[in-house]
Amino acid sequence: MIKEKIKDAINKQINAEMYSAYLYLSMSAYFESINLKGFANWMKAQVQEEMVHAMKFYDYINERGGRVLLTAIDAPPTQWDSSLAVFEYTYKHEQRVTGLINGLVDLAISEKDHATNNFLQWFVAEQVEEESSADAVVQKLKIAGDRSGGLFMLDQELGQRVFTPPVAEK
Ligand code: FEO
Repeated sequence: MIKEKIKDAINKQINAEMYSAYLYLSMSAYFESINLKGFANWMKAQVQEEMVHAMKFYDYINERGGRVLLTAIDAPPTQWDSSLAVFEYTYKHEQRVTGLINGLVDLAISEKDHATNNFLQWFVAEQVEEESSADAVVQKLKIAGDRSGGLFMLDQELGQRVFTPPVAEK
């Protein structure tokens, strides 16, 4: 049976992951509105990643005999100044999420909950990838600068992203 404190913290993380999904969906809508379909596609794949994250936490609470309690999801921003601003926001957001995951690990350790600590290690590794993939686009956008040719090519590249669900492990 999962401890109350850990269960509450993971329930909060479900909300944070759902917010991330909502944020990236809002970014996808922004890119659709400025006709950058490839960027919109990248963000849509990111939405699916976040839903997987939320569901992993959801399943974990249930598996440990806890009760999932869903709460209101904040409204995300809807407007940015540029594609670069969107990806810089994304990178910062992922850094914040890494901080949340690290906080959960700290809690699991202080509560001597080894199962939860073990479960969270998947997210520790995942956050390295999440930060890195957002930062990679930031760097490419900086190289592309204001040149529309560069932006067009990057849009083509990001249009290739296909969401691949993680292999079935718990
Ligand atoms: Fe759920 Fe993007 O971390």
